[in-house]
Amino acid sequence: MNKSRQLLLAALAALTVGCAPSDDAIERRVDELLSRMTLQEKIGQMHQVDGSRDFERVCEAVRRGEIGSVMNVTREQIAELQRIAVEESRLGIPLIIGRDVIHGYKTVFPIPLGQAATFDPEVVREGARVAAYEASSDGIRWTFAPMMDVSRDPRWGRIAESFGEDTFLSAVMAAAAVEGFQGDDLTAPASLAACAKHYAGYGASESGRDYNSTFIPERHLRNVYLPPFEAACKAGIQTFMTSFNDNDGVPSSGSRFLLTEVLRDEWGFDGFVVSDYGAIREMIAHRFCSDLEDAAEKAVNAGLDMDMESYAYAQYLEQLVSEGKVDRRQIDRLVGNILRVKLRLGLFEHPVPDMERNVFFEQASLDAAYRAAVESAVLLKNDGVLPLVGARTVAVIGPMADRAYDQMGCWAPDGDRDHCVTPYGAFALRSDVRTLYSPAMAHPREKSRTGFADALAKVRAADAVVLFVGEEASLTGEAHSLAEIRLQGVQEELLEAVAAAGKPLVTVIMAGRPLTIGRVMELSDAVIYAFHPGTMGGRALSDLIMGDAVPSGKLPVTFPKVTGQIPIYYSQHSTGRPVRGDEMLLDDIPTEAEFFPTGFTSYWLDAGIEPLLPFGYGLSYTEFEYSAPRLSAESMAADGAITVSVDVSNRGSRDATETVQLYVQDKVASITLPVKELKDFRRVDIPAGETRTVSFELPASKLAFWNIDDRFTVEAGEFLVWAAGDSRSGEPAAFAVK
Ligand code: BGC
Repeated sequence: MNKSRQLLLAALAALTVGCAPSDDAIERRVDELLSRMTLQEKIGQMHQVDGSRDFERVCEAVRRGEIGSVMNVTREQIAELQRIAVEESRLGIPLIIGRDVIHGYKTVFPIPLGQAATFDPEVVREGARVAAYEASSDGIRWTFAPMMDVSRDPRWGRIAESFGEDTFLSAVMAAAAVEGFQGDDLTAPASLAACAKHYAGYGASESGRDYNSTFIPERHLRNVYLPPFEAACKAGIQTFMTSFNDNDGVPSSGSRFLLTEVLRDEWGFDGFVVSDYGAIREMIAHRFCSDLEDAAEKAVNAGLDMDMESYAYAQYLEQLVSEGKVDRRQIDRLVGNILRVKLRLGLFEHPVPDMERNVFFEQASLDAAYRAAVESAVLLKNDGVLPLVGARTVAVIGPMADRAYDQMGCWAPDGDRDHCVTPYGAFALRSDVRTLYSPAMAHPREKSRTGFADALAKVRAADAVVLFVGEEASLTGEAHSLAEIRLQGVQEELLEAVAAAGKPLVTVIMAGRPLTIGRVMELSDAVIYAFHPGTMGGRALSDLIMGDAVPSGKLPVTFPKVTGQIPIYYSQHSTGRPVRGDEMLLDDIPTEAEFFPTGFTSYWLDAGIEPLLPFGYGLSYTEFEYSAPRLSAESMAADGAITVSVDVSNRGSRDATETVQLYVQDKVASITLPVKELKDFRRVDIPAGETRTVSFELPASKLAFWNIDDRFTVEAGEFLVWAAGDSRSGEPAAFAVK
């Protein structure tokens, strides 16, 4: 562990010393408070407002006990609101103050999709810890993160906020984020309550269009979309947020199945659930509710504890109780959930933040953001030009080379561009190379080529070129779906012009989603996918390019060749007509061919079957060689385990880190299952020329799935297992569950 990491951990450990009250004591206080509250005061606890508007009215309502939570307020406003809540409201119940602290607060970490590319839960944990440390110093004690929507559609802008396409990776990263935000002790001043969102299925929005409906059958929901939420629950997460989508006809905010049957009855969750912003009201637009009163009734009876910005509970719950449409005991249950979390956070003892603390951009936090950015970059191609050792003059070209705002990504409302190191900024500071810079385009959507001449002059004067292309942060995230996921503006034309100059060309893509980068892969000598890498992205990239750091990221999502292949993901099911490999493509088919036998298998005539790049893929500055996997036994019992071992050798001359991935196929089951599913992974440091044996314990419980009988079951049968560097490579070994 390096020194700054030790310092960071020591600083954070000091802040995690709280004094957590016992469960019994908390339950007694919940009951005691409920016994003293009027119905109106209870409904007040269930009402959350956005305080960025009409602050005076919010203060008045807090004084009257009509509000339980406020979001989007400044540290001074928080102090004032908590003072009013505690000193001037009748019962003195503190507010819980929320904010979207997603991938950093002031110090911005790579977007969650980039963090997922690290395959390093420690990066996610540390990023969340730093975010909590900074945000709590502004009085925020609740973050609307992590998002854990399994996302298989890069048209959907919110894929940027996700941990990608895989259920297991998302579950591991979600749990790590919960641990980071919440720490060991929720009462500690630097702990935030985390929020599992968006519950559930939102990532499957039809056609990648945000807020669109989903159609996920219960079995698929339970096997693919719910496990990250259950993992967050097991990690002790305190809150959940409902999603905007209606799944199979039922909006999440009105789903008793999701909010009560699964969350409470099956998983035993005892924190609270907040709706997404205005989501209760939106059940009217879904045509699931006739009016706001109907929406309030359906939401509260489904088990939704807190209303974010629909004003449905505030306006109608009292009436619904008096009409007997909502039971008072249901209100007590939901309010009890909210009070429990407030008590667990120690808000009654410390409602007002320590206003003297100023912990932004500490060196240890910047170092953590740097490490995250280094680990999140994925090397997609290298014809030997990288690292650029020996280049004396480097041309830094392109519209993403110096865009501090955009490199921070889509959920960085508190980030500060002045603290951002851009790639150009980092190159310009290097003493080992001379940097020539030209953005070539005013911004990444620019349609004019007038800047190309300057860029090409710089290219011709350099030994090597680093071209920074991608997409602006504001084209990604919520409400930013695209029907075509390509490089915008004349970026591809710029790539072609630069490539034609014939200099060694490294292309770096900074984006919030996979883009269709076939031309980039063809025309560049090396390609790095950097996502939106955050505050320290520029330094991380310049160090990777110049060889001061070695790439280790792996793709957390499949990259399609063309948009029309979407959805395309590695864990697809086997069709009845799998490709054989001799299929005809578009140009092979004679004209006027009558019912021509193209193969009658499952593929696209114009795109084949393969994606551009598979899940789990990522290169290094060395070569890794894998042995065949070895098993500790040929079979195991349904409650047993086997060990899968593999030797991984570093055949190059650089010390490097490889992420070894364990995939399993259940050969025949009571339902069709994915061709492969990730069950484990580990990052391993392997010095040049050395071999490491990596052993995974694979308990049979990891093979369980929601089966034909609607039970979570480990079914006996035969399995294949791979231990490999991505989802497409490696040879399987076989074992059985008896
Ligand atoms: C988003 C949530 C977010 C909430 C509060 C909504 O529009 O869907 O992810 O937490 O706003 O800002």
